[in-house]
Amino acid sequence: ANVSEDATSSPPPGTSKRTPHSIIIGVRKGGTRALLEMLDIHPEVAAAATEVHFFDWDENYAKGLEWYRDLMPYSYPHQITIEKTPGYFTSPLAPERICAMNSSIKLLLILRDPAERVISDYTQVYFNRLENHKPVQAIENLLVRSGSLNIRYKAIQRSLYDVHMRNWLKHFPLEQIHIVDGDALIHDPLPELQKVERFLNLAPRIVSSNFYFNQTKGFYCIRSDGRERCLHESKGRPHPSVNNTVLQQLRSYLREHNQNFFRMVKRTFNWQ
Ligand code: A3P
Repeated sequence: ANVSEDATSSPPPGTSKRTPHSIIIGVRKGGTRALLEMLDIHPEVAAAATEVHFFDWDENYAKGLEWYRDLMPYSYPHQITIEKTPGYFTSPLAPERICAMNSSIKLLLILRDPAERVISDYTQVYFNRLENHKPVQAIENLLVRSGSLNIRYKAIQRSLYDVHMRNWLKHFPLEQIHIVDGDALIHDPLPELQKVERFLNLAPRIVSSNFYFNQTKGFYCIRSDGRERCLHESKGRPHPSVNNTVLQQLRSYLREHNQNFFRMVKRTFNWQ
């Protein structure tokens, strides 16, 4: 629920740009855009419009905290600022850098079934390459090299949640990282958002009438301030079907990492 600002006038009196109180750190393709847009329904949330990439891209980090703050939306003192950059979760330096800015910041991490996430990641890259007239490959050719799983494939690396989480837990206590179940957010967004409201100490303002299921899109869309809107067409794209043997190889490789992750966060998820 951002402060309205037209290009010609100065910001409304009493507002300022502030570094975030909370950051959605990832995971890429976890549902980060849906989470941010849905949280933005809340009148006390001011969401950054774009992915900032401050803590994960050295050339941006070098520009300093003032540069970062300037990219935040104007907000009133009773509001909290939130930005989302999915690349933070898998960035080796982001945890330390975020901690240096504000060691008590509240972090939001939205995760979905890591095998499903690999396919979603592939689909995004596939469409980006098509748009840029670059050659594309079948997913199986990326997942498998000479008969075995190609564990160096970046999309697989990004789904090793335990590997990345270990890095965050070196800098933040588990209580400071709230995990949103991305699969649950797809099927029934409200309960997940209510948990986030509680985590962020926000009054319960997001209600069931803020969501409606859009049959054409096949996903929940947002109703807020008298407007109805769905996420961009690049969100919720159909996935390719993956050869079953390959899919099983992927799932079995991820299984141990998932178990490890569950122990780390003292919670389990319904991932196959
Ligand atoms: P797919 O496009 O693979 O289905 P991110 O914003 O982090 O890139 O995540 C994109 C994913 O958000 C989509 O992946 C989709 O499954 C998920 N998502 C969750 N809720 C959604 C919603 N209401 N509308 C569209 N996509 C949603």
